[in-house]
Amino acid sequence: MRALLPQAGERHCVDAHRLVDTPLEPTQITTPHSPWRMSIAPMMDWTDRHCRYLHRLLSRHVLLYTEMVNAGAIIHGGTERHLRFNAEEHPVALQLGGNDPATLARSAHLGAQWGYDEINLNCGCPSDRVQRGAFGASLMKEPQHVADCIKAMVDAVQVPVTVKHRIGIDRDESYGFVRDFIGTVHAAGCSVFIVHARNAWLQGLSPKENREVPPLRYDVVHQLKRDFPDLTIAINGGLNTDVAVQEQLAHLDGVMVGREAYHNPWWLTGWDALYYGGAPNPLTRDEVEAAMVEYMEREAAAYGTHWYAIARHMLGLRHGLPGARRWRQVWSDHHLKDCPPREVMALAHAAQVEVQERREAASH
Ligand SMILES: Cc1cc2nc3c(=O)[nH]c(=O)nc-3n(C[C@H](O)[C@H](O)[C@H](O)COP(=O)(O)O)c2cc1C
Repeated sequence: MRALLPQAGERHCVDAHRLVDTPLEPTQITTPHSPWRMSIAPMMDWTDRHCRYLHRLLSRHVLLYTEMVNAGAIIHGGTERHLRFNAEEHPVALQLGGNDPATLARSAHLGAQWGYDEINLNCGCPSDRVQRGAFGASLMKEPQHVADCIKAMVDAVQVPVTVKHRIGIDRDESYGFVRDFIGTVHAAGCSVFIVHARNAWLQGLSPKENREVPPLRYDVVHQLKRDFPDLTIAINGGLNTDVAVQEQLAHLDGVMVGREAYHNPWWLTGWDALYYGGAPNPLTRDEVEAAMVEYMEREAAAYGTHWYAIARHMLGLRHGLPGARRWRQVWSDHHLKDCPPREVMALAHAAQVEVQERREAASH
């Protein structure tokens, strides 16, 4: 089994938090870009380490976030279970949920020790469970308390401490609310804000509805960047095409993408060239799938992980291609759970090719 904890003196925090120095395409990128230029949103139950391993195969540079991890659980409920990740995932940020400065500071310290490149505080989650714990989006109602949490975390780690938040709470759409939130939290030592560009309605909406119903107001985030030009401001919410991303990058330091990246991960393969001036991703979908199967085999041998827990994250890999549905059905067929993943891959390919051949025959 691979050594999991970083050895004394060993640090993994690299790429994301220094300016990338790959040659730039003058037509695409003219200034050094922010480490937060493109990121994949923290998504509970989705962006676990297996999902992040897949995303890293698709883009070398995109910044990855963990799911929100409860700060108390890291300390009391199994540090390794919550913090273990693959070395390949860098640059990778740990998102914490919590509201107690000391607990957040301790779990941030553990996260940095484990090698995370950034610690992010969740001030955007509206779920009832999180509200009962008085953290997530409801923290925005207490900017000074968030500032105290940030100060404790900043004092505990060397890596950047960042905040992901909404632009308002409930029906209060006043710009001053979010402007003052950022001002107060910045004064405590946070310089990077990832702004989900809609309010969180704390009453009456499910978390899913809270990602869809409150209107997106990108202009609020642009105004924040104008008012705080020295801060790093990245935007999140509803951005699902390169055109939309590029429009935002004209105003802001970065774009965070959530659902579209998960459902259509192949989109990421264009990002290194488009947003970082880097080399295009050389892998084909088949090669990515084969690399994932190798990963499944390693995970099973090292930790007893069932391939099913990994395969569920790559079901969007062939999104939009002929035969994708059949391919996906095979990879998610629970009757095949006892087959080795290499055999499942062969079955999935055969099913996809069959659909393609049928289509070709029908078109002749
Ligand atoms: C399944 C799911 C789980 C999520 N879990 C988290 C989370 O743990 N922490 C967080 O800050 N946001 C969470 N979010 C919100 C996303 O990070 C993001 O803000 C939201 O999906 C809007 O971005 P998008 O329109 O690009 O998807 C979650 C979203 C989804 C779909």
